[in-house]
Amino acid sequence: AAVRELETCGAHVYLATVDVADQAALTEFVERYHGEGWPAIRGVIHTAGTIEDKLIRQLDEQSLATVMRPKVIGGWALHTIFASLPLDFFVLFSSMGSLLGTPGQGNYASANAFLDGLAAYRHAQGLPATTINWSTWAGLGFAASEGAQRLFKHAPFHSLTAQQALEILRTIISQQLVQTAVMPIKWAMMAGADSGAANLPALLRDLTPPQQSGGAGQGAAVCKTLFEAPAEERLALLQQYLREQLGQVLRMSSDQIGLDQPLGSLGLDSIMGVELRNRLEGGLGLTLSATLVWNYPTIAELSAHLADKLGLIGELVLELATTTAKDSSSLDKALSLMAELSDEDALNALLENN
Ligand SMILES: NC(=O)c1ccc[n+]([C@@H]2O[C@H](COP(=O)([O-])OP(=O)(O)OC[C@H]3O[C@@H](n4cnc5c(N)ncnc54)[C@H](OP(=O)(O)O)[C@@H]3O)[C@@H](O)[C@H]2O)c1
Repeated sequence: AAVRELETCGAHVYLATVDVADQAALTEFVERYHGEGWPAIRGVIHTAGTIEDKLIRQLDEQSLATVMRPKVIGGWALHTIFASLPLDFFVLFSSMGSLLGTPGQGNYASANAFLDGLAAYRHAQGLPATTINWSTWAGLGFAASEGAQRLFKHAPFHSLTAQQALEILRTIISQQLVQTAVMPIKWAMMAGADSGAANLPALLRDLTPPQQSGGAGQGAAVCKTLFEAPAEERLALLQQYLREQLGQVLRMSSDQIGLDQPLGSLGLDSIMGVELRNRLEGGLGLTLSATLVWNYPTIAELSAHLADKLGLIGELVLELATTTAKDSSSLDKALSLMAELSDEDALNALLENN
């Protein structure tokens, strides 16, 4: 139907299925096309791509090669074959991934970074060249998968509709721009972001104001709720918050997540682990390790660790000691005993004694 629509507009359409990374097949196709007397090719738009998301430490040669092939070998093959032919445009569909970085897409970011480099290289040689670092397209291609939708749900940019993308493409080609990042930024989200937050892409950090006050967790709504709650309720509140966040990542009800249930047994994989880490960094205003959920693999362990990092434990100890100690000497004794303990042991002692 799309082909017929183009033909009714007066276009001649030649459809061919060719592996863009097979230079011999591509050369043979271009020669055959010209040999059959079709109009000269005046423009190239490279859109071939594939994804195979994996965290960097799990990347193997095969997943790197699969994702690199259509973009690196294919992009270079098109560049070579058309280098001596007069073109009006040579467009490469890159991704914002090569500028911002997305968890699990190191191979994809590298493949797209090659296309960005290829555009710069061609431009330096006086050849037409355009690379576009697209944001996601709403419901189309890679962005339509369930994994992508989960990955980008909390991203600091909006998706583009197909219509918007086509209009932008037309403008970019007509203006012969060499590299354009098409990212509709969520400015309201950026305005509320901490420029020091580790989950904020480096490129966007300069666009956000630094937080006025230091101190982990200050200003975050979740932390406010935690610190305003009575001391003995804070840990349970933190655990409920963690279960809700994990439930959203796993797309399951938080009621189904037990405190001591290993997160891996619930289906949490490494990319989801990074997503959970990013959510907790954003929600709690903390900088957290990418291996967080593997180091603290149950809600109980995770909550104890985060309570420690937030300073919830110190406050707990102090408030409990203050309200339970009947006189100043027993208060001093309680505090000095607590000071001897690690944060974890102090928490355990408090929990055991309720
Ligand atoms: N969707 C988005 O939100 C988004 C955002 C930023 C950038 N992009 C870029 O836009 C382009 C299109 O993406 P899409 O989302 O529309 O994905 P898509 O629907 O999967 O399209 C990718 C196309 O590339 C083809 N392809 C893969 N390897 C090839 C090869 N060696 N030779 C020839 N064709 C090959 C695939 O053909 P087969 O189906 O036959 O394998 C498929 O038709 C990609 O380069 C992608 O990186 C997309």
